[in-house]
Formats: sequence, C-alpha cells, structure tokens
Amino acid sequence: MQDMFRLDNQVAVVVGGAGGIGEAIAMGLGQYGAKVIVASRSMEALKKVADRIAKETGVETKAITVDVTSEESMEKLVKSIVDQFGTVDILVNAMGLNIKRDALEYPMEDWERIFDVNVKGTMVACKHFGRVMKKNMQGKIINLSSVRGIRGYGGGNSAYCGTKGAVELVTKALAIELAPYKIRVNAVGPALVITPGTIHIKENPELAQKYRSVIPLDKLGAPEDMIGASVFLASEASSFVTGQTIYVDGGLTAS
Ligand SMILES: NC(=O)c1ccc[n+]([C@@H]2O[C@H](COP(=O)([O-])OP(=O)(O)OC[C@H]3O[C@@H](n4cnc5c(N)ncnc54)[C@H](OP(=O)(O)O)[C@@H]3O)[C@@H](O)[C@H]2O)c1
Repeated sequence: MQDMFRLDNQVAVVVGGAGGIGEAIAMGLGQYGAKVIVASRSMEALKKVADRIAKETGVETKAITVDVTSEESMEKLVKSIVDQFGTVDILVNAMGLNIKRDALEYPMEDWERIFDVNVKGTMVACKHFGRVMKKNMQGKIINLSSVRGIRGYGGGNSAYCGTKGAVELVTKALAIELAPYKIRVNAVGPALVITPGTIHIKENPELAQKYRSVIPLDKLGAPEDMIGASVFLASEASSFVTGQTIYVDGGLTAS
C-alpha cells in the first residue's frame, strides 16, 4: 500500500514553497521521494528551504524566483525547470495573501492585488505548467484553497473569500478541461494554520480559543497537517480523484 504514495524521481514544483504551508508540503513531497523546486519572490527565503529539504530528505532541490502576478515570470520559471529537470509532474500552488478590510471601505487596489496573486497567479501557473503536463499526457495540480473558499466570513474577508471560492471553481473547471490529458486538478482547503503569519493567534489564548471553538477536533492546524492530503493528491493513491477539494480543517466544514 505504501508504494501508492511514493513519488520517487517525480519533479514537483511548489509555488509559495518558502511560505508556512508551502514549505511543509515541499518537505512532505521530498520525504516521499520527489525532486522539489520551490519558487516565490525571495531567493533568500527559498534557498534556506531548498537546502533544508535536500539535507533532511536527500532529494534534489532547487530554488527559483517567480512573481506569479507576471505571466512572463511564470513562463521563465517553467522554462528554467524544464531545462534543468526535463519535465514537471506535480504543481502545488501554495502562494497567497489576505488583505482584510471592511467591505464598505474596501480599497479596490487591494482587491485587485489579492485577486492577482490568489486567482490570476493560480491560473497562470496552471496554464503554463499544464502545457508541459499535456505534452507528457500526465500531471497532478494541487491548488491551495481555504475553508473560506466554501463559507462566507466577515471580519474584512470579502476579497479573500472571493479569491478562494474562485480557486475552487477554477480547480473544478480545469479538472474537466484537462482530464483528457490525464492531468488531475484538486485543491486542499485548510482551516486556520499556525505559520509565522498567524502565530499571534496561537500566542493570544482568548483568540486561540475562539478559533478552536469552531473546530470539532479542538486543535489549531499546523503546516505539517497539510502534508498527508497533498502527498495523496500528488500520488497514484488518488489516481481516480480530480476536481475535489479536501478540507483539512479538523471538521470545521462538516457542520
Ligand atoms: N495559514 C493559514 O491559516 C491558511 C489557511 C487556509 C488557506 N491558506 C492558504 O494557503 C496558502 C499558503 O498560506 P501560508 O499561510 O503558507 O502563507 P505565507 O506563509 O504567507 O506564504 C505565502 C507564500 O506566497 C508567496 N507569494 C506571495 N506573493 C507572491 C507572488 N506575487 N509571487 C510568488 N509568490 C508569492 C510568498 O513568498 P514571497 O513573498 O517571497 O514571494 C510566500 O512564500 C495560501 O494560498 C493561503 O491563502 C492559509
């Protein structure tokens, strides 16, 4: 059974791979044998992650910069990976941002920024890596959604919820359109995950309790909690699964 989850010698790219969740997923893919490329804007952050994964797993790794809001930058990333690794088997879109603003005051330049990274960035990556996968007649794409992609939230989250809802439907639409090329497209939808960007929640007992109170498993998410679903969706174990979002949320969306 374990062989179904192995990713030996597959080439995996994690965009946003130096982020809290991206790094954990990149490490998980490496632990299951994939060669791992991490990509985002800061080379310094990427290099640390690539070096750590190589040291801890022994797989080949690479750090390459990309700005997902630029289609040209994405094309360069794809070319650089194909030149160096020959192909791409697995794409994880783990970049993203949230800009919380009151709905009635929402600055439209912030709205555009968040849609640019979360939605357009995801589509641009799927488009250009998808072309390589189409040639190979196989590929696995995993987009990071959120419980906020299926549920409405207040507190300034209108843009973020909109982007993640869009990511979920783009995931489904691409799953159908790319199925003839044996490219599977799925998503992972976390509840709150404690990363450097959200550590202040864990450190504030009242706030932490507020978040935990809506999670049946009574626990805040850790980046490593995202590894299992991601390895599953990247591997043969999920060969008949496409167009789905797996909510890794301690049961939050079960009710
Ligand atoms: N943490 C949570 O509670 C949570 C919950 C549900 C869903 N999610 C989703 O999970 C994903 C990862 O979240 P996270 O918490 O790991 O976020 P994070 O730690 O802030 O990491 C985000 C990553 O995105 C990259 N990025 C941002 N803008 C970019 C751009 N224009 N081009 C390329 N890369 C860019 C960042 O690197 P650079 O800035 O160096 O480019 C960083 O590596 C996101 O899609 C997020 O919405 C997170």
